[in-house]
Amino acid sequence: MIERERDECVNGSGATDVHVSVLADEIIAGLAPRSGGRYIDATLGLGGHTARMLEASSPDGRVLGIDRDPEAIARARARLLPFAGRVTIVEGHFSEIEMHAARHGFLPVHGVIADLGISSLQLDTGGRGFSFLHDGPLDMRMGPVVGETAQAMLERLDVDALAEILRSYGEQDRPRAVARAILRARDEGALSSTKDLARVVERAVGRRPGTAIHPATRVFQAIRIAVNRELVELERFLAGLARLVVPGGRVAVISFHSLEDRLVKRAFEGPKAEPSPHKLPVAPDVEPSSWLRVSRRPITPSAAEVERNPRARSAKLRVAERV
Ligand SMILES: C[S@@+](CC[C@H](N)C(=O)[O-])C[C@H]1O[C@@H](n2cnc3c(N)ncnc32)[C@H](O)[C@@H]1O
Repeated sequence: MIERERDECVNGSGATDVHVSVLADEIIAGLAPRSGGRYIDATLGLGGHTARMLEASSPDGRVLGIDRDPEAIARARARLLPFAGRVTIVEGHFSEIEMHAARHGFLPVHGVIADLGISSLQLDTGGRGFSFLHDGPLDMRMGPVVGETAQAMLERLDVDALAEILRSYGEQDRPRAVARAILRARDEGALSSTKDLARVVERAVGRRPGTAIHPATRVFQAIRIAVNRELVELERFLAGLARLVVPGGRVAVISFHSLEDRLVKRAFEGPKAEPSPHKLPVAPDVEPSSWLRVSRRPITPSAAEVERNPRARSAKLRVAERV
């Protein structure tokens, strides 16, 4: 059986030198860049979406690209050479987007995009530890020198804490049983690589007949989200956007799993008014939302895109306009 990692949080073609950006036409249509505009790509990756933003905003639109991964930045820098003078690239976290925007003259901006998760470069480089299809150290840090590795995190967690991570970030079935199996392997000294982790999980939960999805997929997702504090990063990013984007400016976000999509959806919906207890006509006592959703439903890839790039399968794009 062909083993497939679930498409969550990854994009690209699988071959790092033939990188394919997910929902590229749709995100550009949603952002609607124009010449003279200032835009931010909060997840530069290999620069695919940024290149499209620069083309669509020529001759003089500018883009600030942010990524926490220096390897991705080096690749994007080379790819974006033809646009030198119109693109600024910074290594950093998108939770600090306001600081980066202010520092580089992108305040306010006419639009922001984010394409969440990990890139094909990260997933397909065994040494980064994101994939059970390639043997590698249990690292999983998006920025490869900052913070705790997956190995270090697993060294310090107890069963309760690991089970909670697997449950809330991986929506894992039987999280305690899986956590116990992982920590038993750790205590026996049998947990030092991605293949070790995949083997332990497969032994603990077995394979669901007829599925090409490896049983360790959710465990890898959960550990990666915890190591990189991905949901905290996303919440901070979303919270800062309204202070950054001009009225009429757009934000377009691609997410790859329900935990992210829920946060994005909620941020664009804005606060909900409490209904009046007696159905009396009272003014709602909440701030109106800063955003107008451009489409109610998320935009998903066409069958042709999924055929070309199976990793795009679970992508969801939401676009909102600053009011
Ligand atoms: C799916 S890839 C983006 C691919 C890109 N849109 C393209 O077309 O090439 C996601 C990128 O976001 C980066 N990233 C994820 N979380 C981040 C964060 N909190 N701050 C900055 N960059 C982040 C990852 O390092 C990765 O390179």
